[in-house]
Amino acid sequence: MTDRPQAKDAANSMWGGRFATGPDAIMEAINASIGFDRRLYAQDIRGSRAHAAMLAAQGIISDSDARAIGEGLLTVLSEIEAGDFPFSTALEDIHMNVEARLKEIIGEPAGRLHTGRSRNDQVATDFRLWVRDQCDAAIASLHAVIAAALGQAEAGADWVMPGFTHLQTAQPVTWGHHMMAYVEMFGRDLTRFQDARRRMNESPLGAAALAGTGYPIDREATAAALDFDRPMANSLDAVSDRDFALEFLSAASICAVHLSRLSEELVIWSSAQFRFVAMSDRWSTGSSIMPQKRNPDAAELIRAKIGRILGATVALFTVMKGLPLAYSKDMQEDKEQVFDAADNLMLALAAMAGMLSDLTANRDRLEAAASAGFSTATDLADWLVREAGLPFREAHHVTGSLVAMAEARGCDLDQLPLSDMQSVHPAISPSVYSVLGVHNSVASRQSYGGTAPDQVRAQITRWKTRLHG
Ligand code: ARG
Repeated sequence: MTDRPQAKDAANSMWGGRFATGPDAIMEAINASIGFDRRLYAQDIRGSRAHAAMLAAQGIISDSDARAIGEGLLTVLSEIEAGDFPFSTALEDIHMNVEARLKEIIGEPAGRLHTGRSRNDQVATDFRLWVRDQCDAAIASLHAVIAAALGQAEAGADWVMPGFTHLQTAQPVTWGHHMMAYVEMFGRDLTRFQDARRRMNESPLGAAALAGTGYPIDREATAAALDFDRPMANSLDAVSDRDFALEFLSAASICAVHLSRLSEELVIWSSAQFRFVAMSDRWSTGSSIMPQKRNPDAAELIRAKIGRILGATVALFTVMKGLPLAYSKDMQEDKEQVFDAADNLMLALAAMAGMLSDLTANRDRLEAAASAGFSTATDLADWLVREAGLPFREAHHVTGSLVAMAEARGCDLDQLPLSDMQSVHPAISPSVYSVLGVHNSVASRQSYGGTAPDQVRAQITRWKTRLHG
């Protein structure tokens, strides 16, 4: 009738007491998570060791059993790390794989490890520990990206370049200012991961299946042993909460947006039409057919990473949104999404840090582009307000006529002869030329957070102090 594999005869040794036969092979396939949750092995073993030590300290199991469990778990750990561990799909997940192997190694005491806990609080603990590590990794990687952007900003704090709105030349800015805009974004990302880490740093262990336990466990002790700030205060919440994963994914998504925007700029800037920057050989690829090509593949791939990171975020929000309290197996679907998002975020951050520190900005090209496109038109209008007393709206209109005149002649604003300017407005005097240069333009933007090199350098100093204390 079908070539579907048949059910196994043997009931599951971990929970099969009331089962006559084992699961259908397809049931086993859909149910098992060991293919991916094996990545939690170190956290699982750490949590179990803390739990066993606490059980002994509370007199719930004997010291000798706890010792056997603790040592046996270290043997399991070294087997897994040596790539020498027989992972079994029949044993579903990392928790049961570890415990079954522990039983093979130490025998009967292994059966006492699961006293006063459940896989529900166990997995919540393991996963929290894993995501907490990823927050630390993201924070460290963000430091490297910020350092690279700061290095760029410092080198070119006073290099002028066009600032854009609508990707049309707007006003001159400095390269340093542009780089520092990304420092601000990545700095916010940093605090998002720090905040998320602080909030997630509570221990679910000891919530047991959902209701707590009748054993006299010490949740403060296991929380402290696992470097959590405190135990979670509600056992139902403890086993059913995945906010920590959602927060990590949300922070990762916003960070990926920033990485993607910067990547987009690097792709545009490294094109032959812009030539604002040159990528180093280490961060470029060639074409197999077009010898002249130097492709910014890393930037393109970082730009694309937001797709899967945001995809993972949407997936987990969707999994969680309708779940009744407390645990549901749906929640097993949390891990692959977070694993994939975290792996790709870390790769993207590392690639951005490397690419950015190796990047060479082309100062001359930036400066030439800065003065093209009538980028100092606003400075001209401001001069008319300041020096000739015109209302800004009228100054805007007069400047528009001067831009039209320059455009018709195919020259820049500072190449218009004074007499022609005066034909548009008689109050224009020779001192107008001083504001038409891009360096004067940026130097005048002294408002806090503005593009003047002094302001940019002040921000660089502030960030260095913030990062290095
Ligand atoms: N593999 C499971 C998960 O990732 C562990 C928890 C299983 N709990 C249960 N009641 N079946 O969610």
